[in-house]
Amino acid sequence: MRVLGIESSCDETGIAIMDSEQGLVAHTVYSQIELHAEYGGVVPELASRDHIRKTLPLIRSTLDEAKMKADELDGVAYTAGPGLIGALLVGASLGRSLAWGWGVPAVAVHHMEGHLLAPMLEDNKPEFPFVALLVSGGHTLLVQVKGVGQYKVLGESLDDAVGEAFDKTAKLLGLPYPGGPELAKLAERGNPERFTFPRPMVNRPGLDFSFSGLKTFALNTVHSVDGSDQDKADIARAFEDAVVDTLFIKCRRALEQVRLDTLIVAGGVGANQRLRKKLSTLDANVFYPRPEYCTDNGAMIAYAGMLRLQAGEFVSKEIKVKPRWSLEEVAAT
Ligand code: KG4
Ligand code: ZN
Repeated sequence: MRVLGIESSCDETGIAIMDSEQGLVAHTVYSQIELHAEYGGVVPELASRDHIRKTLPLIRSTLDEAKMKADELDGVAYTAGPGLIGALLVGASLGRSLAWGWGVPAVAVHHMEGHLLAPMLEDNKPEFPFVALLVSGGHTLLVQVKGVGQYKVLGESLDDAVGEAFDKTAKLLGLPYPGGPELAKLAERGNPERFTFPRPMVNRPGLDFSFSGLKTFALNTVHSVDGSDQDKADIARAFEDAVVDTLFIKCRRALEQVRLDTLIVAGGVGANQRLRKKLSTLDANVFYPRPEYCTDNGAMIAYAGMLRLQAGEFVSKEIKVKPRWSLEEVAAT
């Protein structure tokens, strides 16, 4: 089975072709970062318009790269949510219409299920059941995963997502959008002993997170110093250490709670090296997708879609997106 995957939930247009025998045949990601950088964050209307410009040409070039014709495809998978409504509608309209035109089934994929299954694209892949830590710009989730579509949310952020907290803190340190990777780079030069940020909610029972206080703590710390490059690096380091420690403590607690010893980490913040180093000290097997499958991409959507199509799932001819969509509402296969 060969499946075309389309990702357009935010500021990346991701296209991929997945073959059930050969694995990933081709994949391309076009990032809109430059388009949004001057505004310091994603402008939804600009994102939608750029997806309109880029999606079809990228589908063509990805088919060329795979040396395939459209009539060799057996299905189309597209991200139907959660995400920006206009951006989602571009991928869903094109994906649903192309599938109709080609006479193949289409399937609607949950963006976070895509992230959650991304470690399966690697040769060394985890086996069910496991705990998933999903850390992106829009979500922070700890999920108990029994199988495809069998998800129980154990904890989530009550306010800012962890990537969002990285981006907002980076912005107040004067770093360009998206600030997560920039902040991590700056933190490498920071002195970990100078400032100590709180570890939010670790002393309370449960697995929920709260990151908005850390951003305020960073702001107050910025106001208390001169603002030299070293000050900023020290603040970046203190912020990163607090986030990493908090995620580590909650992951350890989740694994203990559900008595599992396998953890997968996915989503953009999963690319953070300090987080990876800290999680390697857990008494568990920890799996990650390679960095290009941590951030938004079409490969994870093609893969999740292929599993669902193989299980006989498909959508009606209606073009429908779900900007808000709980992972727990996703059907089991
Ligand atoms: O999964 P993703 O590509 O898009 C969403 O679905 O949101 O995640 C993007 C987020 C951004 O907030 C970005 O700043 C953050 O992931 N990020 C990082 C790193 N790389 C990306 N945060 C911290 N350290 C990194 N190395
Ligand atoms: Zn994402």
